[in-house]
This record gives sequence, structure tokens and C-alpha cells, in this order.
Amino acid sequence: MAEVIVVSTPGSAGTLVADHISSRVEQQPQFVLGVATGSTPLPVYGALSERANEGVDFSQVQAFALDEYVGLPASHPESYHSVVDREVVRPLGLSRELVHVPDGALGSIQTAGERFEQLLAASGGVDLQILGIGGDGHLAFNEPGSSFGSLTRVKTLTQATREANARFFGSVDDVPIHSVTQGLGTILRARHLVLLAFGEAKAKALAASVEGPVTSSVPGSAIQLHHHVTVVVDEAAASELQHRDYYDWALQHKPSWQGL
Ligand code: PGA
Repeated sequence: MAEVIVVSTPGSAGTLVADHISSRVEQQPQFVLGVATGSTPLPVYGALSERANEGVDFSQVQAFALDEYVGLPASHPESYHSVVDREVVRPLGLSRELVHVPDGALGSIQTAGERFEQLLAASGGVDLQILGIGGDGHLAFNEPGSSFGSLTRVKTLTQATREANARFFGSVDDVPIHSVTQGLGTILRARHLVLLAFGEAKAKALAASVEGPVTSSVPGSAIQLHHHVTVVVDEAAASELQHRDYYDWALQHKPSWQGL
């Protein structure tokens, strides 16, 4: 079962997760970090950039993004190449050549998934994968119905996802229809999954993901198949969890030698 940590604010989630990542990076400078885009992980990146300012050295960290839009130029401000550069690479002082975002260029899309899987394999694998969750339960751009064995590939976005992401574009019509996304099988290979969710709009998808049933109709429920998952949520996102009392109890009685 996933460990569920309920915190009071997204800011405290950011501090908790960033402190853990920073201490891992200090022990292992060539740490491989899986980064997510969207609004949810921003408090983690904000806290990590504070650690960078305090002297934590992220320059040898390798980073892998979960996904990219297909057909959006990498230079577009909302491409995940741009978002990862703006929110993660520059504030943390990562080395650009160690940062990988799937290639969404139309001309080379047919091999984008395979090339990304090769880069992941060559890195030795992701040590910690930061994840958000969609209101429909999607993980990365694995929409409901995605195979738990899927690898990085092109995936058609649902209209709900395009509407949710319209806030980053002029209108929903400007949101690309396709993405290239790590598969659920890719994500499950990471050594530690840290799933974040904030706000009531995520409560149902979060409860379905954490407490089941395990079904490809709820891609987030794939986390139940992983051996090391930490879920960090605020009160609103935790509001539909059935076993909340147990999560709090287990956290209070957590053996002191266990980390995040
Ligand atoms: P959000 O998106 O962090 O912007 O809410 C999460 C997701 O769609 O996976």
C-alpha cells in the first residue's frame, strides 16, 4: 500500500519532497529525477530552487520529463521543453545536456518513443519520479484505458484533458490533440514514485488511484502495482480517501529509520 501523507498546504508538500530529493542528491550527485509538468509540482520546484540557492549542487542530476505535446515547436512557451527549462532547469541549475524531454517534432515522431526509452535505459533508470494526476485519473498523458504495460508512445488526448490545459493556451482549440508520453509501464520502472495532488478537483481521482480497484480505466491506480509509492496531498485532495485514519496512524508510528 502507498504511504499517504496529508499536509496542510501545497507549500509544505513542496518543502517535504524537495528536502527528500535534496538529501538524495547530496548522497548521489548523479541522481536521476523524473519531472512532471502542470501546476501540481511547482511547489516542489520552488523549494528545490531555494535549496539550490542555499548551495545544493544539482549540476550532475539527470532529469527526464514525462511527456511532450506533438507538433508544438520546442520553442513554444507551453511546450514541455520550454516549461521544464523555465520551471526546473534554470532555477535548479541543472545541466541542459542531462535533461531529456520526449521529442514531439512531427518529422521524427514515429521513433520518438523508442529513442526516449533508450535514453531512459542508458541512464540506469529513474530514481524518483514526481507525478501529478488528472481529474480523470490520468498519469502523465496516459488517458483512461491506457495499458499498464505501455511504454513511451504517441497518445491522443481526451477532450477533458485539452479543456483542463486550455488555461495554458489561448483556447482549447490551440491545445494539441496528440502527445508523446511515457507509458504506465515506463513510469512503473522508476524506483520511487511520489504522487502529489492538491485541491478538491483531484479528490475522486486520487481516492480511486490509491484505494482501487486497479483498472486501466483509472490510470493512476497503476501506482498500486509499485513497491515504493509516497502520496503527498492536501486536505481537499484527501477528502475522498476511505482509509484516512489508518494513513495518519501509520505515519505517526513510522519507524524512525524509514525515509520518505
Ligand atoms: P495539474 O495537471 O498539475 O496542472 O493539475 C496534472 C495532470 O494533468 O496530470
